[in-house]
Amino acid sequence: MSGDEEAPSTPPPPARGGGGRGGLPLSLREEAGGGDNARPWRALCALDAIADKAAKGFPPPPGGLTGLFAVRQGDAVYVYVNDCPHIGTPLEWVSDRFLSHDGSRIVCATHGAEFRITDGECLRGPCFGDCLEPVMIQIKDGIIYVPEDAGL
Ligand code: FES
Repeated sequence: MSGDEEAPSTPPPPARGGGGRGGLPLSLREEAGGGDNARPWRALCALDAIADKAAKGFPPPPGGLTGLFAVRQGDAVYVYVNDCPHIGTPLEWVSDRFLSHDGSRIVCATHGAEFRITDGECLRGPCFGDCLEPVMIQIKDGIIYVPEDAGL
């Protein structure tokens, strides 16, 4: 990293966040300036580490119990806590396998609940109407950042 680049531990806050029912969609689009720059962030992975229309799981942070997963759709990345709202299990049984066969929905392997990728709402299954917990993101220099406490 050159001396004029911003330190990766303190990228600007996400342009969008919230997600879930009634929340704003999460997006990798970046807006400069404003917001809570003091909030600590941690690098999740390089954007290129997630193929388009694919998902990737991440272990809990140090001291945490719950991992995260990310879904990439073109220029958008959606990150959620890997915790099904039905009974609180991780969604995947196979590493990085979070999506339906056609890639259109997030699927929980335990009982088959299906979730909309863009906001995490359960559209089918035992937790119908509940939502995955969204995680704010920031993309800076090709790296996806999440709040340091995401998954804790
Ligand atoms: S634990 Fe996810 S659908 Fe039951």
